[in-house]
Amino acid sequence: MSDFVESKRLVLRQFTAQDADLLIELDSDPAVMRYLTGGEPTLPPALVRDQVIPSVLNTYERWNGRFGLFAAYEKETGAFIGWFQLRPEPTGPQDEVELGYRLRQDAWGKGYATEGSKALVDKGFSELDVNTVWGETMAVNVASQKVMEKVGMSVVETLPTPDDMQGVEGAERGGFRFEITREQWARR
Ligand SMILES: CC(C)(COP(=O)(O)OP(=O)(O)OC[C@H]1O[C@@H](n2cnc3c(N)ncnc32)[C@H](O)[C@@H]1OP(=O)(O)O)[C@@H](O)C(=O)NCCC(=O)NCCS
Repeated sequence: MSDFVESKRLVLRQFTAQDADLLIELDSDPAVMRYLTGGEPTLPPALVRDQVIPSVLNTYERWNGRFGLFAAYEKETGAFIGWFQLRPEPTGPQDEVELGYRLRQDAWGKGYATEGSKALVDKGFSELDVNTVWGETMAVNVASQKVMEKVGMSVVETLPTPDDMQGVEGAERGGFRFEITREQWARR
């Protein structure tokens, strides 16, 4: 599988049909899922194998390999450290893309989320005709906000607590939508 983008310490590649266990293990850590579901894995393993992975592979085709969910590996060890995503909404404009990331706990605190996100955002603006990159996070998820700030994004909107997040720790504080436009990126 060819590399989608690389940074100093990371390489991001498309997932393959054999990668379901990577996602299942990542989502089985309650610390990883703390601000996403309150700690529960998002989906039963069989659904990850039968629906999530095929859907991830479909999105590469839909966007001709330009966007999607990408597996991140540490160059030095080859270890899977989690995923990053850069993708338009299914029916939204192709030049407005969402940034996302979910890393294994043993990869936290090394600057990897910032490094991988910067590489994706740079590629989006410089090679993929992106005009806006956006991301949303809970107010209580300070690490995620810091990642977006370090990538040059800023808060454009405060968000109410989604119905499916009621009961998640800190969810009552709502969330933030971050954005960076092509002009802001070019000025950095
Ligand atoms: C959010 C996440 C991707 C951050 O990954 P990371 O690789 O540890 O982030 P970085 O090392 O690039 O750190 C970015 C900044 O956040 C800070 N940070 C990291 N964890 C933090 C925490 N728990 N509380 C406060 N700040 C934190 C770092 O110190 C750094 O800021 P600094 O350079 O000013 O010190 C990771 O914690 C994660 O995967 N969490 C679970 C999934 C998730 O919440 N995804 C986001 C959903 S919106």
